[in-house]
Amino acid sequence: MSRRDLVLILDYGSQYTQLIARRVRECHVYCEIHPGTLPVEAIEKLAPRAIILSGGPESVYEEIAPKSDKRLFDLGLPVLGICYGEQLMAHQLGGKVEPSTHREYGPAKLTVREPLGILAPFAAGDSLSVWMSHGDRLTEPPPGFRAIAESPNAPLAAIAHPERRLFGIQFHPEVAHTPRGIELLRAFLFEVSGLSPSWTPVSFVDDAIADVQRRVGAKERAILGLSGGVDSSVAAVLCHRALGDRLVCIFVDNGLLRAGERETVEHAMRESFHLNLIVVDARERFLSALAGVVDPEQKRKIIGRVFIEVFEEHASRVEGAEYLVQGTLYPDVIESVSVKGPSAVIKSHHNVGGLPERMKLRLIEPLRELFKDEVRQVGDALGMPHDVLWRQPFPGPGLAVRCLGDLSAERLDVLRQADAIVDEEIRKAGLYESVWQSFAVLLPVRSVGVMGDDRTYEETCVIRAVTSSDGMTADWARLPHELLGIMSARIINEVRGVNRVAYDISSKPPATIEWE
Ligand code: XMP
Repeated sequence: MSRRDLVLILDYGSQYTQLIARRVRECHVYCEIHPGTLPVEAIEKLAPRAIILSGGPESVYEEIAPKSDKRLFDLGLPVLGICYGEQLMAHQLGGKVEPSTHREYGPAKLTVREPLGILAPFAAGDSLSVWMSHGDRLTEPPPGFRAIAESPNAPLAAIAHPERRLFGIQFHPEVAHTPRGIELLRAFLFEVSGLSPSWTPVSFVDDAIADVQRRVGAKERAILGLSGGVDSSVAAVLCHRALGDRLVCIFVDNGLLRAGERETVEHAMRESFHLNLIVVDARERFLSALAGVVDPEQKRKIIGRVFIEVFEEHASRVEGAEYLVQGTLYPDVIESVSVKGPSAVIKSHHNVGGLPERMKLRLIEPLRELFKDEVRQVGDALGMPHDVLWRQPFPGPGLAVRCLGDLSAERLDVLRQADAIVDEEIRKAGLYESVWQSFAVLLPVRSVGVMGDDRTYEETCVIRAVTSSDGMTADWARLPHELLGIMSARIINEVRGVNRVAYDISSKPPATIEWE
């Protein structure tokens, strides 16, 4: 994934903007998302080879609607306007956009009239399934533009000014509901814009290693907080390639890990990748700080604070440490008008925020240009095992946010055993990678049961499994009843302390994925 050619995606607030970027990257072309109002001087500095204008929720003729810098159409660059982007381009170049008599949202049939430019892969008269989502429509194309495709509700569903390489489409080529949309994007990138597919995992690895080596001096060291998750693991292996033992990884066992987790991480990272790894056993310290605390926010705050204390103590012992490596990904750094999901403000997330300033460490974020799927490809190019790269996300505060009530070592152990059963069974059923997360939760709620001839009075385990594409929204997974039955029977039979199992059928929103 070498950054040779850049496609600039100007964002007007569509929920699909990141999806456009991922599709472009899937075509092995590097792209970046920037705010739609970016002035032409800044655009020129970025030196893109092509521009895509995203969709957006506003109406172009409204005062508050985000506008592009009109001069961008005079740069001589190919431009593709999608939905709001099409209307904006048309509006700014002298066409006419008006409110539709009815909002069009859903599937539509697009008929190709002139198969040129972005429609070159198709033939005149072809009918394509496309996804529409708009309240306004284009009623008159700007001077020099003509319709190259139409749909029953949108006679100007695709417009073109072929000589200037300006194209606009009313539908969304980036979504799965437009099955042949990727062909249209490829035509825009390769035929219209003359780009080449040079952004590949292997070239990214080479560039990233060289970049880290350039930044970190021969006598300097970098430290990294290893969580065992995909991002920090890939960042660790990548930086280890660049720095060898001058990368020091710190893994903190906070007593809130899942069954076998510490051993798995130690094995994978120390044995297989020879990482310079410090494993800190801080179980006692965390659990005593958490003793008697039941309030979810309190728990999170304590865990965040103790983590930073422990991490700092060990990091400050690393001589010559000048850098902190973090596995930040592209979705975290995009500066855009898109609305971020609510989860960040609803629960205080725990990370090493503030640490670099306090310890005077400079940040290295080798993955900050990548989407999650690209991180996995990079990990694959680095020879990392599939199991590590396809781990489900696991929250920083660990089992604490899944063990409601008091966090005693005993209750955490009960939860750990139940969770291991859920994990084992979901993997056996081949569903581990198709659900976003699947785990057990322990409730401090006792109910009466009967086991053999004895009456039991024990706590409740909840199984939680959700499907999601980014954790911002989620649906409860429709796990087979058979599988739920096996999990329930095993948990009740094998885990002492649980006599009842429930399945969580709430979606996010309004519920969250984690229970605390
Ligand atoms: P919620 O519970 O807010 O979770 O729906 C959304 C996603 O974020 C994960 N999560 C966390 N991840 N530190 C993390 O690194 C945290 O404090 C944290 N809290 C929640 C959660 O597992 C889910 O994937």
